[in-house]
Amino acid sequence: MSIKLDPTKIRVEEKGKNKKVIYKDFDFYSWPYEGQTKIKHFVFEEYFKVWTIILGTFNNKINYFDGFGGCGAYIDEEKNELHFGSPILAANIKENSVKLSSKINIVVIEENQEAIDNLKKVIKHNKLNPFQIIQGDFDIEVNKFLDKLEKSPTPTFFMIDPFGISVKYETLKRIMSIPKTEILFNFMYNTISRFLTVGTIEKILDELFGCDEWKNLRELQEEEKEKGVTVLFRDQLKKFSDYVYQYRLSFQDKKRTYYYLFHLTNNVKGCSIMKSAFAKFNFGNVAFLGPNQPNPNQSFFLDPSDLKKLEAKTYLEKKYKEKEVTYFNILKEVIDETPFLEKHIRSALKEMEKENKVIIQRIPEYTGKDRKRKRTGLEDKDIIHFN
Ligand SMILES: C[S@@+](CC[C@H](N)C(=O)[O-])C[C@H]1O[C@@H](n2cnc3c(N)ncnc32)[C@H](O)[C@@H]1O
Repeated sequence: MSIKLDPTKIRVEEKGKNKKVIYKDFDFYSWPYEGQTKIKHFVFEEYFKVWTIILGTFNNKINYFDGFGGCGAYIDEEKNELHFGSPILAANIKENSVKLSSKINIVVIEENQEAIDNLKKVIKHNKLNPFQIIQGDFDIEVNKFLDKLEKSPTPTFFMIDPFGISVKYETLKRIMSIPKTEILFNFMYNTISRFLTVGTIEKILDELFGCDEWKNLRELQEEEKEKGVTVLFRDQLKKFSDYVYQYRLSFQDKKRTYYYLFHLTNNVKGCSIMKSAFAKFNFGNVAFLGPNQPNPNQSFFLDPSDLKKLEAKTYLEKKYKEKEVTYFNILKEVIDETPFLEKHIRSALKEMEKENKVIIQRIPEYTGKDRKRKRTGLEDKDIIHFN
């Protein structure tokens, strides 16, 4: 969702750290658009479309809860394009979905009144129907929302995208304790890493991690610290969310991590679809590498997807040696533990079948039309016998 702009009408207003991009013809301001934000939006949009279709088909109502709404608009000053923030992307998906539109309920929280006023102008500009915007603090408002959701559970996608780090582990845990909830959480690693040694924010970090073990990581060298912090946070999240996968996003112009997007879901297919959505915009990778992103014109000796398939084969052979396991269980055990996409796991298993490294017992053996299932298919109940 983007609109081409006339570069002569774009100007930038800077007040301290705050930067606004003004376009002469619009009554709203925008924020500058950075590469990692663009990826976040592309991935969210791709995933949310699928999520609304799957959940909307089987439920009378579904919610989109945006905990940190933002100002609604972004301008890419290099490409002279107008783009939109998460609440607008969600509202647009809602309104373009003729069948599901009436089922999708949007709730947005934003602390800053100026951002809310701007967001409302962006909604009008896009001729979208108004949705609920609450001025307030995320943690207070989300807990009020959860009080109601617990009484009548409804599938809800939570977008939690703060600038800072004051999100509470207990709140994430409470969200995931309700059936059919999912979270996309922006874990601001850059800020966390800077503040790990600052005594005054110990309480905030305790609340974010849900423990104080992060203190043991303070003295580590940068690379080990980053690994330690993300492993600890993921381990904590895994205590209450079946699938947790983290996507690393670098600064667009620095070879350094800006933040991680943590996706929490209790649905294995949800985890798989999000990984595919992320890879779609990142040359098959589950990370945004900033200046190290592959060059689209680069030619590879080996297709990167074939390389991942080969790695998946080696991994599966080792993990399941002499075991029998259903395809669905393989997916459940592998999807958030490895960088492989579901398509790599599938193609690895099929290739192993051709090489007689596995026997795939297809269940059911016959199709609905009483035809024996072909060796090309692979379904959840199929049993894989590893040599
Ligand atoms: C990173 S921006 C959100 C961007 C948005 N998701 C998008 O895609 O455009 C974070 C927003 O959270 C708001 N904010 C900061 N602290 C907040 C809080 N405690 N509760 C709710 N909103 C807050 C800020 O004013 C800012 O607009």
